[in-house]
Amino acid sequence: MSYVIGVDLGTSAVKTVLVDRSGNVVAEHSESYPLSQPKPGYSEQRPEDWVDKTLLSLRLLLEESKISASDVEGLSFSGQMHGLVLVDGKGAVLRPAILWNDTRTTAQCRRIEDTLQEKLLGIARNRALEGFTLPKILWVQENEPELLKQAALFLLPKDYVRYRLTGEYAMDYSDAAGTLLLDVAAKSWSTDILDAFELPHSICPPLVESFDLCGTLLPEIARESGLLPETKVFAGGADNACGAIGAGILAEGQTMCSIGTSGVVLSYEERREVDFEGKVHFFNHSEKDAYYIMGVTLAAGYSLTWFKDTFAPDVSFDELLSGIGDIPAGSGGLLFTPYIVGERTPHPDADIRGSFIGMDAGHKLPHFARSVLEGITFSLRESIDILRASGKRIDRVISIGGGAKNEDWLQMQADVFNAEIVKLESEQGPAMGAAMLAAYGAGWFPSLQACAEEFLREARTYKPNPDTAQQYEKLFGLYQTVYGATRELGKGLAEFRG
Ligand code: XUL
Repeated sequence: MSYVIGVDLGTSAVKTVLVDRSGNVVAEHSESYPLSQPKPGYSEQRPEDWVDKTLLSLRLLLEESKISASDVEGLSFSGQMHGLVLVDGKGAVLRPAILWNDTRTTAQCRRIEDTLQEKLLGIARNRALEGFTLPKILWVQENEPELLKQAALFLLPKDYVRYRLTGEYAMDYSDAAGTLLLDVAAKSWSTDILDAFELPHSICPPLVESFDLCGTLLPEIARESGLLPETKVFAGGADNACGAIGAGILAEGQTMCSIGTSGVVLSYEERREVDFEGKVHFFNHSEKDAYYIMGVTLAAGYSLTWFKDTFAPDVSFDELLSGIGDIPAGSGGLLFTPYIVGERTPHPDADIRGSFIGMDAGHKLPHFARSVLEGITFSLRESIDILRASGKRIDRVISIGGGAKNEDWLQMQADVFNAEIVKLESEQGPAMGAAMLAAYGAGWFPSLQACAEEFLREARTYKPNPDTAQQYEKLFGLYQTVYGATRELGKGLAEFRG
């Protein structure tokens, strides 16, 4: 029997999955690493932690599965997007990585928009948002200029880990699209954008397809991970592209909702020239010459984790959510907006903060827990509406990630989105997409679509309940007014956040 491994380098942990030729997950393992927030709005990680924990996770995955390393044909990656890793000429990391959820770069975003004007949407196809990589590079250029001069190359998180595993530099199109330096339609680094900010072209790594072979394991890495040096390493893709592959979003008309730390609603897009005026993200897919459009809720799963850690640290997630099914839609008049780290879609605003509106003396923990889930789901519905307005028909959504683990939340998605929600069997999210890229790269299948047909199986469908959907329609209207009503408050309170 032969196997492939998917490595999902997330924000809170790295997850590895071992998958056989039929798509069965034979073993999985996860190792977490810390996130550092040295100042409000900052979010950083040590690239060395990613490497150490990836190697540990690979070793334990193999040990737990008891399979022979010679049966592992290859591995590939899914990576948290946008994070900036700067390395010098010898490949040494120059500073902690600045992550996708770091919001220190508002001034740099304005500089990008003022400098490039309409060229930005024309070339990079996306607005300048704090999370993207170019604003982070410009922040280093302005605040740590000596450090940027030492930088030979910039990499994204999974590209750094892959470099450490193979000794080869590369970045795939799906992740490069999130840097704002890629000419998304031409699939090349944009000379116009690099020149506009006096960035040397040499700082950009070679571009590859997500299923391209990037090398094999360095001998010391093979020793540490327990794998063989001849194990093939395929490029991999952005976590959202891999989530899409792992959910079978490989043809026009298919949409997924993925709830991890952030939450996204993503639709396959074959129209390369369609103009969304920057309202949604437009990125290259990990499938060749395909694209996807997506809206992002910055703190989706993170809102729930924050809520639990702050107000119910001693109960498990299952316990926290066990009572929500008994609370009717609307959480007894309590409305939550999940803007606890700012927002992206449809309000690109780093200053806005979350709120509970309508707190009543009768509300108990389950009301708050339900309203957190409803707020996250309403935020994702705003992205669904933008996709629908662009002409997409969204009546069926594959749900993956944390949002697919709870029955009540799955039904809530059906009612709030007014669409059928599909849960997959053995859902592994982006890690499965990464494994599928390795399986396709290794030649197991003639296409990713053929791989999806073999690997993915639907488990259950949740249909909208017409009465609840109607209730939610009303509540959603109220939810949408909260942003405008709290925007100025958020700005005023910003100075007290330290
Ligand atoms: C997408 C984004 C997040 C990260 C999470 O633009 O910033 O979804 O990819 O890892």
